[in-house]
Parts: sequence; structure tokens; C-alpha cells
Amino acid sequence: MSTENKHGKILLVGVGPGAREHMSLRALEAMQEADVIIGYSTYIKLVKDLLVGKEIIRKGMTEEIDRCIEAYDQAKMGKTVALISSGDIGVYGMAGPTFEVLLQEGWMPDHDIKVEIIPGTTALSACASLVGAPLTHDFCSISLSDLLTPWPTIAKRLNAVGASDFVIALYNPKSSRRYGQIEQAQEILLRYRKPDTPVAIVKSAYRRRQDIQMVRLDEMSGYEIGMLTTVLIGNSSTFTQDGLMITRRGYANKYDGITGDALEGEKKGRSLSMGLTEWHGVVREYMRNGKFHTLRKVAEHFNAPLGQILQAITAASDDDKAGDFEALAIEGDTFSIIEAAKQWGLLRAVVRSEAGAISELKTHAKDLVQKNDWLNIENDHFHLHINWSSVTKVTLVRRDDSYRSAFFTDIHGHSVFNISLVRTDKQFDDAAFKAFEVNWQSHQSAAKQLETSDQ
Ligand SMILES: C[S@@+](CC[C@H](N)C(=O)[O-])C[C@H]1O[C@@H](n2cnc3c(N)ncnc32)[C@H](O)[C@@H]1O
Repeated sequence: MSTENKHGKILLVGVGPGAREHMSLRALEAMQEADVIIGYSTYIKLVKDLLVGKEIIRKGMTEEIDRCIEAYDQAKMGKTVALISSGDIGVYGMAGPTFEVLLQEGWMPDHDIKVEIIPGTTALSACASLVGAPLTHDFCSISLSDLLTPWPTIAKRLNAVGASDFVIALYNPKSSRRYGQIEQAQEILLRYRKPDTPVAIVKSAYRRRQDIQMVRLDEMSGYEIGMLTTVLIGNSSTFTQDGLMITRRGYANKYDGITGDALEGEKKGRSLSMGLTEWHGVVREYMRNGKFHTLRKVAEHFNAPLGQILQAITAASDDDKAGDFEALAIEGDTFSIIEAAKQWGLLRAVVRSEAGAISELKTHAKDLVQKNDWLNIENDHFHLHINWSSVTKVTLVRRDDSYRSAFFTDIHGHSVFNISLVRTDKQFDDAAFKAFEVNWQSHQSAAKQLETSDQ
């Protein structure tokens, strides 16, 4: 036992995937420095020859909290304790539970017992290195273990990352008692990804029983997968060639593949033309040149919420128009426009459900009644209730002489509800049209005044 270290120390050591050459120098040193090594028996076996002369405490897989308590108890005796974990100890590893136990016990970072975390190569980067370059763009990891995480939470995350086109690394995909999760994960991801999306199933990376299977997403769950496997699932930019799995970083969006020059409209070292500050301009250009029928089609084209398209139109100027569309964002009380719409005559109200059902109704604004957080439309034929508390913005929209509408959107830019003036024989009711124009003019002047006072 080291004598100079009277206070004891806890070393949280990630030993990497398995092979010695992928272990960090500090991890090797830390194990040399330790008096006591604590770990799950499989990890102890991986580094057995480095632990000669050390006190070794093996624990089973389910004894994680015991491992942390043991580490603290040993450190309190003045020993240097290395708690080891495969890969990186902070990635689905023992670092979190150790801090939870320590803090519960009243330990604080300035305590005499010091804690050092030694990072390691995590399974996803180890596995990726064996199959090519699947993680060279945005990715995320999800553990399929529902031992500590409820399945609805895991399913929600799978849906979110599936829809967001992340490359995915699945940890803990399957065990002898948990085999349905990988099938469910496959089913969820197939809602968003093509059946032939590349998948790499990597077992025991950098260990004696290493095994790699390159498969398609729709076949994935039928292959051999176990607790020592990490599953890498590509996104829409991932391809396989000559046994390699590669995710494009997007150079082709910007540079000519042969000359290396920036493509037309793109600038070297600058954000893409579809980057944060420029993409609304691209939307307006599309609307000037493109053939589309509705604003919703524009939103689908750009895979963006309708509210973003409305913002792009709102920012149009005389020399950068959004085709024949104009938009005006209304500041302040969102309900005031419902009051104003009482002068807009017969209205077409559209409400969409999350699952895609569309309700279109002919109504009058006088039928729209606000009650607490709800906007209710009630008559002899139907009752419709719209949760008004989700409405954060109203945008008026005009299209030449054919369209006058108000869109009510939520914080995500999704349309909660919209009302449009009704045309009969391609003609608006004169009084309704004039009332809308009066509202437009007054809000436009208010917006201009606000702009001037801001300058
Ligand atoms: C509790 S997690 C531990 C993760 C570890 N801390 C890391 O950073 O890699 C266990 C899971 O990691 C993955 N894993 C760990 N080592 C692996 C290896 N050598 N090859 C493939 N997958 C591995 C498997 O998905 C396994 O079910």
C-alpha cells in the first residue's frame, strides 16, 4: 500500500475496448498506482496480467452500487483504489453511480479523498474504427437496456433520433433475457430509414472473439447480437463500399469532387448557402422560381416547420421577394386577431391533428369563443377545441389577390390553426377583403414604428 497517500484516492479508469494498445498511458499508470482494483469480473479478466500484486475485488454485473461503496470504503482506509470499466468509464460506466454514492455520503470535490477520471476509447469509436468511418458526422448513442430506463423513454429517443437522421450507436442491444428490444428498435427506425440502410454489428471489438457483420436495417434483428455487441446504424448519408461503412461529411454539398473548387453560390470556409443566416433567402428564391401549390409543400420541400417558411416570407424585401407571397408577423396579444377577424366574413378554418387528419370548416369569427386556455368553435354541427396556450405567434399572409390568411403557430413553428378568407367565384367578399387589408395596414405601420424606435 502506498504510504505517502494517507487520504486515499479513487481512480475511475476506462480501460478501452480490450486490446492493450488501445488503452491510454494514464490508464496503465493508474492501475500501477492503485493498491486495490475493483471491477466487474469480465473487465478484471481483460487486464489481469497488469494487476499482479494488487488486491483485487471482483463484483458481479448487478453489483454496481456495491462497487462504488466498496471503492469509497477502501479510499477512506487511505488506499488508492482503481475502479475499472471497459471503454470509457463515463459512458454507460461507473463514473456516474460513483459520484452519486459519494455525494450521498457527504463527499465534496474539495474532500481529502480525491477522485480522478481517466477517459478511455468507448465502444462506439472502437467499433466504428473496425468498419470504416460511420461516425464522421452527427451521431448519438442509445442504450437499449430497460433495466433502469423505462421502455417508453427509450422508444421516444429512438423515434427522435430516427426522425433527426442521426447515425446511431446502440449499446446493450440484447442479452439472454432481453431480446425483444432490438426488434422494436428496428421497427421504429424503419419508420424513418430505408430498409437497406447500412448497419454494422460489432461484437467484442479488439478482443479475442471479435466479430463483424455488415447487414441492412430491415435484416438487423435476425443476426447474432449479444451483450458484447454494439450496433452502428447509418443515416441517409451512409453508404457501404468494398466492405467499408462510411458516412459522408457533406463536402459534396459545397465542393466540386474533381477540382476541389467551391460550387456555385458557395464560399470556401463560410457557412453553406443553406447555413443559418442564408437559408431563408434560399426559401424565397425557391418560392420565386419553384412550382409549388401551397406553403405546406414549401415546408415539406425544405423539411422545415411551416413557421420557418412564414419567417422567411416575413423577411422578404422588394429585391428579394418570396414570389407572390407576403407575410406580416403580429406582435402582442395573439387573440386580438380573432377579434379583428369578426369583420372578415365567412372563414375557412383548418386544424390538423398530429397524425395527419385535417379538419376544414366554414365558420365565422363570431363562432370562435375564448374560454380560459381554449379557443372553442361550437355550433349545432360540431364542437372544436383548440389549445390556445400553445399559440405563440400569429402571421398574416397575402398572396396577390387570391389568398388572405392568418396562421397561428406554436413555439416549434408548427401550425396550430389557420383561418382564411373565403372566395366565391374567385372573388372575395368586398367588405371582408377591405377589413383584412385595414388590419394588414395597421399592423404594418405598427411594425414599422417599432423598427424605427429600435434604431
Ligand atoms: C455497460 S456498457 C459499457 C460501455 C463502456 N463504458 C464503453 O464506453 O464502451 C456495455 C455495452 O458496451 C458495448 N461494448 C463494450 N465493449 C465492447 C466491445 N469491445 N465491442 C463491442 N461492444 C462493446 C456493448 O454494447 C455492451 O453491451
